Amino acid sequence: MQIDILTLFPEMFDGPLSLSILRRAQEKELVKIRLHNIRDYSTSKHKNVDDYPFGGKAGMVMMIEPIANCIESLQSKTSYDEVIYMSPDGELLTQGLANQLSLMHNLLIICGHYKGIDERIREHFITMEISIGDYVLSGGELAAAALTDATVRLIPGVLNDETSALSDSFQDNLLSPPVYTRPAEFRGWKVPDILLSGNDKEIAKWRYEKSLERTSQRRPGLLGK
Ligand code: ADE
Repeated sequence: MQIDILTLFPEMFDGPLSLSILRRAQEKELVKIRLHNIRDYSTSKHKNVDDYPFGGKAGMVMMIEPIANCIESLQSKTSYDEVIYMSPDGELLTQGLANQLSLMHNLLIICGHYKGIDERIREHFITMEISIGDYVLSGGELAAAALTDATVRLIPGVLNDETSALSDSFQDNLLSPPVYTRPAEFRGWKVPDILLSGNDKEIAKWRYEKSLERTSQRRPGLLGK
């Protein structure tokens, strides 16, 4: 898979993309993630990327020209399955959506900043808008990093143990059961006996019951979806 991310702040991705699972996925060449600085595509003398909104209002708007130039330059070389704009107006990111995106070959993700991007970009280039929740971030970068992480970890081969994505919360509309590691007892707080029993069938049953219990207590809306 190839993911091209358009941003005014490529440095914001340094940490998320260079550590842990995302790092490993790139090293294994299961995903190629490229960052593009929108400012590099401004043709104005001072490399402007934002301007005052028509009609007046507080805040700046990201100009159409640098973003359109950047998208078109990339599209001349790659055909994208989706051109995604990160926005609180978009479809809510769920595990189901991450699953769908993990099957795609080429994704282009646009991060807005300030008051957003010129609406004409949305009308003429964007095929999908994605939100990571009902709150407003300072820009789309953290949202794009979350989307990239949720998607890339589902690409086959990225996780060492294939079943570990299958047992993630939400993968079957259930929250994960509790997990424990050594020591089996700490300050008198004990790990449930069943997990030490060695009885795989009973352990699987216990985990399923705990998942159901936790989901019905915390996220009853997920059950029966
Ligand atoms: N940009 C700003 N806020 C956002 C959000 N909640 N989701 C996606 N992109 C955003």
